[in-house]
Amino acid sequence: MTTTYQVGILTISDRGASGQYEDRSGPLIARYLQEKTPWQISKQTIVPDEFPTIAHTLKQWCDEGIHLILTTGGTGFAPRDITPEATRSIIERETPGIAEALRAESLKITRHAMLSRGIAGIRGHTLIINLPGSPKAVKENLDILLPVLPHALDLLNESPGSESQHRTV
Ligand code: MTE
Repeated sequence: MTTTYQVGILTISDRGASGQYEDRSGPLIARYLQEKTPWQISKQTIVPDEFPTIAHTLKQWCDEGIHLILTTGGTGFAPRDITPEATRSIIERETPGIAEALRAESLKITRHAMLSRGIAGIRGHTLIINLPGSPKAVKENLDILLPVLPHALDLLNESPGSESQHRTV
């Protein structure tokens, strides 16, 4: 894990964006990655559950060369939960294995994991992953993801030696 990738963290929450609710999940993702990876947190913000705002922010960060975008929130069944749809509108290639693994592993912890509709996908050289909104869910999902993320980002960016990890991951 030597490459310094640029990370964007996007919290998607009406109440967080309006200041009614303190966002704990975005900062948790930032702390987690700072402790466990050499990656740089280049973008971090909160937006409401508005399709155009989410899609625009994701697209802009991809176009600015962010390597990994982790979203948190808006993946459930509430009428305004549209994070997966907004993400799907700007990705070029879906990466279903990531969403499948997050749900499959999370189901071992809570049956409520089946209520997340989060997706993951690639736009250009950016990997975008939807995480659920609660800090508990964020931590559990990051624990599942982290062992695989460096290799995923290396492949996406054709880092020298990325193929050699196929035997060990
Ligand atoms: N996944 C894990 N690992 N742990 C959790 O506690 N909570 C679930 C699910 N995924 C949960 C989880 C719940 S209760 C919901 S409603 C959905 O994520 C969607 O969450 P969101 O609407 O905050 O994105």
